[in-house]
Amino acid sequence: MCFKGRNLVSLAAIWILVLISATQAVQKLQKKYEWKYMDYLFDSPNDKIKAFQTQRYIPENNLPVGMEVFREKLFVTVPRWRPGIPSTLNYIPLNDVYSNSPPLIPYPDWKSNELGNCETGLTTVYRIKVDECNRLWVLDTGTYGIGNTTQQLCPYAINIFDLETNQRIKRFEIPSTLINQETFIANIAVDIEDRCDNAYAYLSDELAYGLIVYSLAEDKAWKFRHGYFFPDPLAGNFTIDGYNFNWDLEGIFGIALSPKYSNGEKLLYFSPLASNTEFAVPTSILKDITKVSESYSDFRLIGSRGPKSHLTSKVMDEYGIQLFNLIDRNAIGCWNSRFPYTPKNLGIVDKDDIGLIFPSDVKIDAYRNVWVLSDRMSNFLEAPGGLNFNEVNFRIYFAPMDVLIHGTVCDSSPNKYRGYQIFEH
Ligand SMILES: *[C@@H]1O[C@H](CO)[C@@H](O)[C@H](O)[C@H]1NC(C)=O
Ligand SMILES: *[C@@H]1O[C@H](CO)[C@@H](O)[C@H](O)[C@H]1NC(C)=O
Repeated sequence: MCFKGRNLVSLAAIWILVLISATQAVQKLQKKYEWKYMDYLFDSPNDKIKAFQTQRYIPENNLPVGMEVFREKLFVTVPRWRPGIPSTLNYIPLNDVYSNSPPLIPYPDWKSNELGNCETGLTTVYRIKVDECNRLWVLDTGTYGIGNTTQQLCPYAINIFDLETNQRIKRFEIPSTLINQETFIANIAVDIEDRCDNAYAYLSDELAYGLIVYSLAEDKAWKFRHGYFFPDPLAGNFTIDGYNFNWDLEGIFGIALSPKYSNGEKLLYFSPLASNTEFAVPTSILKDITKVSESYSDFRLIGSRGPKSHLTSKVMDEYGIQLFNLIDRNAIGCWNSRFPYTPKNLGIVDKDDIGLIFPSDVKIDAYRNVWVLSDRMSNFLEAPGGLNFNEVNFRIYFAPMDVLIHGTVCDSSPNKYRGYQIFEH
């Protein structure tokens, strides 16, 4: 009797353990790469030694923040926030199965990643975007440093690379009238109309609270302002991996383009970083420069995620399903835009309290694979000791989109609604 009771207790304990580990570890995302610190493929061992000696490469200062996938290339960006970042735009050959922690290869080459070379170099790159025309859109902020150490070495510039030839085919400097001292732009969305040369880029200015539109056909840019770009004063308090900090000035950040809805409309979804609210604006408004001064009511409130729902990255597939990073929850969330944007209709596709600490970028490739980069950015920037380089700090995961949303509230077929996790109220 007593024995049986103990057995039941230990069984219960095992179950609790199973449940705890089930809620902590990724279930659907598969780990592709992991690193304790980022390394680069230097031209020779001698070059690498020289880079160490001259501090052109300081391993612990390299934080990967952005990612994109095109065919066999997985692009990874590393901002020059601190000294010792040898290259800001890089890739990993996906067909090379040699290593779980491969070195980064500068894209398209070392020379094109030269710090402070405003004509042919790249100084700091965050998010990047591959378009349907096999081009890579790269916003160079031209900055060296972060926060109060920032130096503007070069103007903000959009660079477009042809991914077939690996040549830069366009460089457009953002006019100084559209930015100011506060400007901080990390995110870029790309919108192709009917033809490849009729394309637009949308850039969110997090700290000067603007949305910049660039027309490739007209080679011209303009800027929208709106109250919806500002931070929510009640949503500036963050706790991630046990560290509490405030990012209370952070406005419009994550942006995602919708597919064309049945009414012919495309929306640009956006949200401030210090916020739990989702907004959108029709792209027809953004593309029309005459709307800059009179479009207040064209901007829409989409809904609220509820507390603990800060995000920095979002992406939408061709069926209107949005994925986003939930930085306070070490998780990736989803929303099927056929349903109202309320906590009950938002799902969690995967979660990991170690592996997904600060899932910094989310992308969907041409084969409907979802890619997630996690980098512990909040610890890097805000924790007293920074990162522990004896541990794995950076991870890249992937999973097919349909596997990820299967069984969640975002899955369109109702008979699959089983065992999904929805947001707490
Ligand atoms: C810059 O900011 C850091 C913290 O973000 C602070 O410790 C430092 O004192 C600041 N330096 C100056 C010159 O304001
Ligand atoms: C921010 O959150 C921390 C931790 O929960 C709390 O101690 C602090 O009082 C909060 N600050 C504000 C302004 O809400």
